Amino acid sequence: MSRQGLYVPRSAELVEAIEENALEKTFVFDLLDGEPMPYNPGQFMLLTVFGAGEAPFTLCSMPGDEPRVRLTVRRYPGGRVTERLHGMEPGDYVGIRGPFGNGFPMDELRGRSVLVVAGGIGMAPQRGLIEAILNDRKDFGDLIVFYGMAGPEQMLYGDLMEQWLQRDDIDLRLTIDRPHPDWDGHVGLITTLFEGLEVDPRTTSATIVGPPVMYRFVAMECRRLGLSDEHVYVSLERRMACGVGKCGHCAIKGTYVCIDGPVFTLAKYEQLEAE
Ligand SMILES: Cc1cc2nc3c(=O)[nH]c(=O)nc-3n(C[C@H](O)[C@H](O)[C@H](O)COP(=O)(O)OP(=O)(O)OC[C@H]3O[C@@H](n4cnc5c(N)ncnc54)[C@H](O)[C@@H]3O)c2cc1C
Ligand code: FES
Repeated sequence: MSRQGLYVPRSAELVEAIEENALEKTFVFDLLDGEPMPYNPGQFMLLTVFGAGEAPFTLCSMPGDEPRVRLTVRRYPGGRVTERLHGMEPGDYVGIRGPFGNGFPMDELRGRSVLVVAGGIGMAPQRGLIEAILNDRKDFGDLIVFYGMAGPEQMLYGDLMEQWLQRDDIDLRLTIDRPHPDWDGHVGLITTLFEGLEVDPRTTSATIVGPPVMYRFVAMECRRLGLSDEHVYVSLERRMACGVGKCGHCAIKGTYVCIDGPVFTLAKYEQLEAE
């Protein structure tokens, strides 16, 4: 990557802001230099809202040939960057640096079945992975996707979910935490979707992205299925500043989440999180 994009933000114009739910919007930006931004699913970029600051967000769909990036962002009340971003309209400008980090290990996942577990906004990073697998569908085994959310009003990418539910090459299972009058699907925490699930642990990998509290319980279910901690991947969120391994903001026990992660095996994650 050249200095432009690595240290110096590229200018981008907001072309669309899609309201996903009350807290989350998907922003589509066009890079004004006309150059596409190739990236791996699960990588992130740093977005500058001029006058407010810079913050990391995951690239949430497969990169195309066009100079376009797509991010789904949750608004934090009082958040410097996310509040301002949510107030932006098409035609407004931002700065974009990246892509950064490792992303999901596509070469290691190739040839294996993949169990994707997404909680809440964790579907944003997982969406790019699912699209990558669907694009090269013959290169992977089964694709099972568990997506859990508090209630139906929190769902991301509703139209896409409808399309995936119609396909027979992806086994998408949705759940909400508590019963809701507009929902006739599965109700229960995401771990309840594991009941009755059988996979071949020798040929299956799992990816987990969601709120930190979910990781421990989903990890237990993955182990119960017999999956090795080396074949289960989680994506870590840490406060970041430079994004390029220079400032130390994201370091845990000498590991830099911005360059060594944010995706780690469960084995490495446990080592990093151990007291
Ligand atoms: C690698 C990586 C990828 C990320 N990808 C995404 C993504 O795709 N979409 C997305 O919406 N967010 C993502 N995040 C989180 C995002 O970076 C933060 O929400 C953002 O930095 C908040 O910036 P702010 O300036 O609005 O908030 P600040 O002004 O920095 O903080 C405002 C308040 O909100 C709280 N807060 C801020 N962020 C969080 C958080 N994540 N969880 C809980 N409380 C928080 C702060 O503690 C503070 O009280 C990612 C983070 C990392 C490290
Ligand atoms: S964010 Fe600066 S070292 Fe990782």
